[in-house]
Amino acid sequence: MEAFLCTEDLCRHFGGVMATNCVCINIGENGLRSVIGPNGAGKTTFINIVTGRIPASSGKVFFQGKDITNKPTHELVKMGICRTFQITSIFQKLSVFENVRIAKQARLGGTLRIFSTKKSLRKVTEKTWAILERLGLQDLAHQPAKNLAYGDQRVLEVAIALAGDPNILFLDEPTAGMSPAETRHISKLIKGLSEEISIVLVEHDMDMVMSVSDKISVLQYGSIIAEGKPEEIKSNPQVREAYLGKEQ
Ligand SMILES: Nc1ncnc2c1ncn2[C@@H]1O[C@H](COP(=O)(O)OP(=O)(O)OP(=O)(O)O)[C@@H](O)[C@H]1O
Ligand SMILES: [Mg+2]
Repeated sequence: MEAFLCTEDLCRHFGGVMATNCVCINIGENGLRSVIGPNGAGKTTFINIVTGRIPASSGKVFFQGKDITNKPTHELVKMGICRTFQITSIFQKLSVFENVRIAKQARLGGTLRIFSTKKSLRKVTEKTWAILERLGLQDLAHQPAKNLAYGDQRVLEVAIALAGDPNILFLDEPTAGMSPAETRHISKLIKGLSEEISIVLVEHDMDMVMSVSDKISVLQYGSIIAEGKPEEIKSNPQVREAYLGKEQ
């Protein structure tokens, strides 16, 4: 079966550091793939290459069989390849609704002309509300984003990414800095989304990773050292030594 998104010998170096080292990964059309690994293992670099933020040094990225290596982010977003960032990135002064509406408008339009009709404006508004409701943010819609609790701000980032109508969504440490209750809440949302679209989750919270992932890929020094279901990863001696070991 053809992979939805896959990479072939993907590499990226920064000077002498091989941040991504011959990564071959096959990601399915839906479900939740976690990418884990110690700090500096190359998780964010991998996302940055696949989502067009930085070019690969060598290797290929394919999406639905098409070579998308080093295509610019805006082209990849049009294909439904979207992401969130490790550091919260929302418009703090704008309302929750506006944050999502602007992203939706950008996705649907590109030019302002098509928003001159009432019908097209209504479509953007409806889609924005649908996303806010999907993520349980509707009651906060008119709050400036900066007033939201930290956990809700991170959910808002997912909402903004959903406005891009993703087929595959890369989430870079969405629970970083969250309370256990906030982590449980966003875990449920992410798991729910993975039934409809492909989710690639970079995450350090092992309890979350083990409970939500369909499959896990483990990175160390830029290379994949193990891949499998959560129970296989938990009992893999190399993974325990490289990563989980320090948690036990
Ligand atoms: N722009 C850059 N310039 C130089 N080195 C970089 C750059 N970006 C990443 N690196 C290096 O590449 C390696 C991988 O970094 P990356 O941020 O991808 O790791 P990570 O797995 O996301 O780590 P963390 O869990 O801390 O977020 C590290 O050694 C890092 O210092
Ligand atoms: Mg990172």
